[in-house]
Amino acid sequence: MKIENREYRTIWFDENNQSVKIIDQTKLPHQFIIKDLKTVKDAINAIKIMEVRGAPLIGGTAAYGMALATKENNDPNFIKKSSEDLIQSRPTAINLRWAVDRMMNKLLGVNNNELLNVALKEAKNICDEDEKFCENIGLNGLKIIEDIYNKKKDTVNILTHCNAGWLATINWGTATSPIYQAHKNGIPIHVWVDETRPRNQGANLTSYELNEESVPNTIIADNTGGILMQRGDVDICIVGTDRTLSTGDVCNKIGTYLKALAAYDNDIPFYVALPSSTIDWDIKNFKDIPIEERSSEELSHIEGLDENDDLKKILIYPKKSKALNLAFDVTPAKYVTGLITEKGVCVASSDELKKMFRQ
Ligand code: MRU
Repeated sequence: MKIENREYRTIWFDENNQSVKIIDQTKLPHQFIIKDLKTVKDAINAIKIMEVRGAPLIGGTAAYGMALATKENNDPNFIKKSSEDLIQSRPTAINLRWAVDRMMNKLLGVNNNELLNVALKEAKNICDEDEKFCENIGLNGLKIIEDIYNKKKDTVNILTHCNAGWLATINWGTATSPIYQAHKNGIPIHVWVDETRPRNQGANLTSYELNEESVPNTIIADNTGGILMQRGDVDICIVGTDRTLSTGDVCNKIGTYLKALAAYDNDIPFYVALPSSTIDWDIKNFKDIPIEERSSEELSHIEGLDENDDLKKILIYPKKSKALNLAFDVTPAKYVTGLITEKGVCVASSDELKKMFRQ
């Protein structure tokens, strides 16, 4: 997708520099900085401090992180340790483990002199596949938005939470992909963008990328969605996910659950968009999903431009207050109208998911 009218993907390998390039998302929307990852440690750090984030992009970065590991040292113990360190870098998004496992399987038994080539090729395959899957999610979700428009014959108001945009994937996004497809097909849409405290991925990233693609959008405080739904100002909610269980329960950015409850109470369709790499086929009970707890400083401090347009971080809480920063919550399947996947739209249930992906 575009930034200042130039097409980008979120991650790519630079042959000349022999490094992995990423867009540093901690500086957006105020600064657009492309960074080099040269070692597997750089990749782990980029995931940890969220220079890259969003489940599919975390997976893509981990895949390239594995390639960087093979470049540094082809000792199997080093590669194994690197895979474990990558998996530990963030706990909730399942795409991370999925991508590392896929890379490890691919590298099994490969000659030392071929390791780097094979690893780079597989990392690119993972990213290309994610791009294609996200594009398909858009085409499948487009039909849902089209149906609403055909009935309403007026602007379709879509609410989204966090950033499940192209910046969270390789391209297109998950939740935003149907939005971009609708916009490209001339359907009048407007997006309510949840600010998404504490890290403001909605305000800083979703609104930013929608602006760059000229999609009308308005940022709202996280607690505003409920009243907008009661007033009839939301036609559909579409969000992403970091891990969807085979039961159809959906783990996503903190606050998603409350939006789903409000949508349910107001009879508003609540869709979750995901590539199949985000499905966890093993965990059956949502309470077993590892929920990331991040530093309370993400709540107590906020970063923005000062009067000189310099980035500045300031404390906004009482100095003595404690704060709890859980990064994700789980929306039970019963509140999910449907899952928009690369293969089609299905009910959030184990039968439907199995039918779609395991038969
Ligand atoms: O903590 P983040 O910014 O990595 O969280 C991202 C989300 O919660 C997204 O909604 C999710 O990864 C889906 S991305 C297409």
